[in-house]
Amino acid sequence: MKHILCIVGTRPEGIKMAPLIKALKREPWAKVTVLATAQHRDLLDQVLALFDIRPDVDLDIMRANQQLPELTARLITALDEKFTELAPDVVLAQGDTTTVMTAALVAFYRRIPFGHVEAGLRTHDLDNPFPEEMNRLVAGHLARWHFVPTGRSRQNLLREGIDDAAIHVTGNTVIDALLEVAATDWPLDVPLDASKRLVLVTAHRRENFGEPFRAVCRAIRTLVERHVDIEVLYPVHPNPNVQAVVHELLGDHPRIRLCAPLDYAPFVEAQKRAHLILTDSGGVQEEAPALGKPVLVMRIETERPEAVDEGVVRLVGTDEARIVHEASRLLDDPQAYREMARGVSPYGDGKAAQRIVAVLHDALVGNTEAAAGR
Ligand code: UD1
Ligand code: UDP
Repeated sequence: MKHILCIVGTRPEGIKMAPLIKALKREPWAKVTVLATAQHRDLLDQVLALFDIRPDVDLDIMRANQQLPELTARLITALDEKFTELAPDVVLAQGDTTTVMTAALVAFYRRIPFGHVEAGLRTHDLDNPFPEEMNRLVAGHLARWHFVPTGRSRQNLLREGIDDAAIHVTGNTVIDALLEVAATDWPLDVPLDASKRLVLVTAHRRENFGEPFRAVCRAIRTLVERHVDIEVLYPVHPNPNVQAVVHELLGDHPRIRLCAPLDYAPFVEAQKRAHLILTDSGGVQEEAPALGKPVLVMRIETERPEAVDEGVVRLVGTDEARIVHEASRLLDDPQAYREMARGVSPYGDGKAAQRIVAVLHDALVGNTEAAAGR
């Protein structure tokens, strides 16, 4: 038996690790321990409950309005204690959060091989997204296995001198999770006006806090005022820096519906029902194209250029006028809309978790016929 320690910290890690945790738990050679840092408390609990995953260890790290240095320090101390106690053969973590960077670092200090899920994403700009570009550089350079979603992410790692033999193009596990959840129609317990076109909004990036984020909110308000046939649904991230501004600038408009973060299944349902999506989220940039929904990304850089190249995602920055212009074009011009609503999935085919399991099996147990036949 090989002891595999799977780390989850925030909402997207829960969603993207769930298919892999479930696939590993079916393997007779793997003993799986799930460690929740709970860098996110409520958002992580929501997604783990949906996928029926109960953490074996819960570090309960989150504090209100946590700052990056203290979060990092608490994670390193708590993870080290558990890695020492559990002595796993492998540590796995997904993405670019502080949880992932610290898990990779502690695994390195304790000489435990680290597998990085969703490896190789880069903007090549340490300020955008902040601090995630640094987090994934650190995790990437400490990993034994790099599970990259696309050929582009493989190229990024090769350019950094990572050994090709350690890179595995698997697709992104988010598409595994999405396909499973999107196959069902879920109730969306938010009263929406069915006569209006739905514009779904999410935004939470730290580098946008302050004026860029205020500009994003003003753009949403202007858009609603100019288009009487749209309704905005905005599940607001619990980060207090987001909450305060959104409620101040958007709280009183009758066609802007602010709500608490939606559970994953209703949020997928909201994406399915949306006409247009405005976001700065990484995961939404991957999911919405697979659901055939045009996405405007309110950031100045993206580490997910594949869907932009396909023409189904557009990077619009955080300038108020630009966001209003680009969104209005899609709302007013059916041809422009059709060109972006094509339904392509550059990030995966729903089989990423099984490919990752096969790689780990080969590496840890041996390249048997069973693994080859997967
Ligand atoms: C974090 C990640 C970011 C990821 C995002 C996904 C870091 C530095 N940032 O950003 O990469 O894209 O998660 O959503 O790792 N809060 C709650 N309840 C929750 C979750 C958060 O109240 O369930 C509030 C708390 O006040 C917390 C704050 O949000 O202190 C910020 O959480 P944190 O994980 O530090 O940053 P995010 O902005 O959520
Ligand atoms: N999501 C959700 N409920 C919401 C908003 C988003 O379940 O109210 C999901 C979304 O479908 C995606 C993930 O959360 O899978 C993205 O998380 P987030 O935007 O917080 O983080 P990022 O992907 O930017 O790291």
